[in-house]
Amino acid sequence: MCGIVGYIGNKEASPILLEGLKRLEYRGYDSAGISTISTNKLLIHKRSGKISDLERDLVYREIPGTLGIGHTRWATHGEPNAENAHPHDDCTGKIALIHNGIIENFDILKKELQSKGHQFKSVTDTETLVHLIEEFYNKNGVLEQAVREALLLVKGTYGIAVVCGDEPDMLITARNGSPIVLGIGANEYLIASDVAAIAGHTCNVTYLDDNEMAIIRRNNLVIKTIDDRPVEKKVEQISFDLDKIEKGGYSHFMLKEIMEQPQTIYDSMRGRLLEEEGTAKLGGIQHELESLLYARRVLFSACGTSWHAALIGEYMIEESVRIPVEVEYASEFRYRDPIIDRDTVVVVISQSGETADTLAAVREAKRKRGKVLGICNVVGSTIARETDAGIYLHAGPEIGVASTKAFTSQVTVLALMTLLLARMSSMSASRGREIVQELKSLPSKVKKILDGHEYIEQIAEQYANKHNFLYLGRGYNFPVALEGALKLKEISYIHAEGYPAAEMKHGPIALIDENMPVVFIATKDSTYEKIISNIEEVRARKGKLFAIATEGDDFISTKVDHTIYIPPTIGLLTPILTIIPLQLLAYYMAVKRGCDVDQPRNLAKSVTVE
Ligand code: F6R
Repeated sequence: MCGIVGYIGNKEASPILLEGLKRLEYRGYDSAGISTISTNKLLIHKRSGKISDLERDLVYREIPGTLGIGHTRWATHGEPNAENAHPHDDCTGKIALIHNGIIENFDILKKELQSKGHQFKSVTDTETLVHLIEEFYNKNGVLEQAVREALLLVKGTYGIAVVCGDEPDMLITARNGSPIVLGIGANEYLIASDVAAIAGHTCNVTYLDDNEMAIIRRNNLVIKTIDDRPVEKKVEQISFDLDKIEKGGYSHFMLKEIMEQPQTIYDSMRGRLLEEEGTAKLGGIQHELESLLYARRVLFSACGTSWHAALIGEYMIEESVRIPVEVEYASEFRYRDPIIDRDTVVVVISQSGETADTLAAVREAKRKRGKVLGICNVVGSTIARETDAGIYLHAGPEIGVASTKAFTSQVTVLALMTLLLARMSSMSASRGREIVQELKSLPSKVKKILDGHEYIEQIAEQYANKHNFLYLGRGYNFPVALEGALKLKEISYIHAEGYPAAEMKHGPIALIDENMPVVFIATKDSTYEKIISNIEEVRARKGKLFAIATEGDDFISTKVDHTIYIPPTIGLLTPILTIIPLQLLAYYMAVKRGCDVDQPRNLAKSVTVE
């Protein structure tokens, strides 16, 4: 998704902007550009392609100046080319603007501006905004006022940054629905859509909320609402480990993040397990435990991989806490006029904490006066800030577009929440202690599976030319089947479907022939016998069979072509182990097919538009 970075200070801006943009590359983009102000002149350079291409161009085309803005664009309106890339400038070439989000009423505004003589160079919604600012600036000559008046006319979402040749000491940024963080350094300020872009420059940050704008001069920062009321902000300290946002020797962020999971799962549990009492401690939701325990229903809402984690959460809580749970796609929830009463607790799950649909679900639930809790990874993200209480994953920055370590941390945190609630209701101390011990053993069990990565790589080699895959599982492994299929399709572009294994006979069985690989997640649990019958059904139709099975189950390997073993664990923790081989399989399949794993086509890390 698009990324924003801006700088005002006493250093050359363009290297800082390029560095920031590189840190935003992981969000996915197709073009990029930067703009600086140098002796009252606006300079812009932008193009389609990678930041490294932009950087190479700048060796020949200098962009000096100590004030500037930079952007990575992920096309929504118009193809990815230099004209449509940001920054966009006005007719006079004085004002430049970068924008994340969508201006919904751009068509009407554009027609009006064109009728007044404004010349457009791109087909983007964003360019409308810079001409609108120009229109007001021509009338009042005050940049801040011009930005404000323009924003008051805009419908839609935005995170923007604006510079102007007439104002060589001023950077303006504003937010409505698209995140903006401000970094406060020594004699310098940075702005960005993601804290990763300013890491390494300062630890002091403050976040804009919706309908706020910041007017940043070289020696001061003023934050107001868009309609010009003063706002007091808290400056927060962030700790950002630069090492953690580099690839750490792996060829892709995705592989690095898969391999990190023994540590990230441990980090999600650290300080949260009470061994003696056989329970968990979750400070973030401590004051909401009563609401959860006495809820008539818990409603999970999320998107994509986080939605799969939510399904696992449903199974866990219903099984161990006996509270009815529903799971809804946030994109459906927000438009469905959901029933939320005071006995419903809504729990949203989001790695980024910025997903537009999930954020809209939070706001809809709050509008209906529901209690809303969040499970997020990114500290200080919009969802983390707007929910009533929540639990952080502590999985560290997830850069790979395909979510891996966030998923296992989400399931870990859901297990902690289940344990805590179950122990406050009917679960015995001895069962609680058993779960704690199993949780503690997860990092070493995950490591053992990861150590077997070479076998999975060999399998991937043999199947990389396939066009379809089916993933089947039952109980806790049904959401894992969905997640395994999602991982494969999003990075290797192989069509894959996940189903509850028993559903196969209601339709998907028609697809099975000798060309169809079928991955069964067939751990030793109460549905094992049933899943063996499903395996036989595929065997009878000559499908290629894979099994993710429990160590010691030699029988299954006589039934399938490839068996990948996982160490035994208890039912509710099984998904944390069974997903690991499926992440590796998707990764190696994509690599063997020559796909760009960290920049999958058409995908962005954080989906901040509808
Ligand atoms: C898949 C993936 C997406 C995200 C989804 C929600 O690998 O990454 O499906 O899970 O876009 O994102 P978050 O969790 O940031 O709300």
